[in-house]
Amino acid sequence: MLTISGVFAGYGGGDVLQGLDLEVPTGAITCIVGPNGAGKSTVLRVVSGLLTPRLGSIDLDGVRLDRLGCAGVLGKGVAQVPQSQALFPQMTIRENVLLGGYTLRRDKQLLTKRYDRVAELIPIVAERSHDKAGNLSGGQRRMVEIARCLMVEPSVLLLDEPSLGLDPMSLTGVSQLVKDANAAGTTVLLVEQNVRLGLSMATHGVVLEGGRVRLEAPAGELMANPEVAELYLGGAPTAGATAGAQLPQPAEPVPGR
Ligand SMILES: Nc1ncnc2c1ncn2[C@@H]1O[C@H](COP(=O)(O)OP(=O)(O)O)[C@@H](O)[C@H]1O
Ligand SMILES: [Mg+2]
Repeated sequence: MLTISGVFAGYGGGDVLQGLDLEVPTGAITCIVGPNGAGKSTVLRVVSGLLTPRLGSIDLDGVRLDRLGCAGVLGKGVAQVPQSQALFPQMTIRENVLLGGYTLRRDKQLLTKRYDRVAELIPIVAERSHDKAGNLSGGQRRMVEIARCLMVEPSVLLLDEPSLGLDPMSLTGVSQLVKDANAAGTTVLLVEQNVRLGLSMATHGVVLEGGRVRLEAPAGELMANPEVAELYLGGAPTAGATAGAQLPQPAEPVPGR
């Protein structure tokens, strides 16, 4: 369990997170939704060690994370998929993914084992291994970014707006990949502006407002909540919404970008 307790954190101009209490269950996909500026990305930054809380604590199964910095947090098995455009376009997919295993570079056998496992989970890695990353579509790039992160076999994967800028076809692919990584044993904490998509991927949902948890429930329940529907889904609650519901498939394949 990843536990955030009484966290106050910000950027010098006052606290963005205002006493945040949040429990992220092991093995689940937890999705944080909420209005722009609510502090969603800030939550991921304090967890990944990019930002140090002014007050409060963050721990993973009883191990304090909040004073370790990025490298220390990564060492405890918590990895954040960086913002997009993070791949080296002139390098191959394989080279980009292997960079994620940089810390294992002295153990070639383990590096190869990890790479094979990631390539099995994310077919694009195997299919396009010798192609330059610059030739991939937006959705394919996002998948390779996640692949690179999975090289460290994180116990917790942090994702900030994985859907940003993707076409509907890629959304389905990235969403499925998040579910597959989770099924393979990774706890996922993700942030999404696209509330419907985020909650449909997730098992647990959290509405963040003003740097605090406003609502927290199983994702399907949250999607069916009239208040959430009104504020974030543009009207009536999604009928029969269930946790992990399938995303609607686009009628026609959308060409990659
Ligand atoms: N690097 C930064 N420096 C100063 N203020 C920031 C920085 N990043 C975010 N903020 C401010 O913190 C608040 C919360 O931002 P953020 O966590 O990015 O919100 P969200 O991801 O929910 O849209 C916003 O008011 C934003 O302007
Ligand atoms: Mg954000």
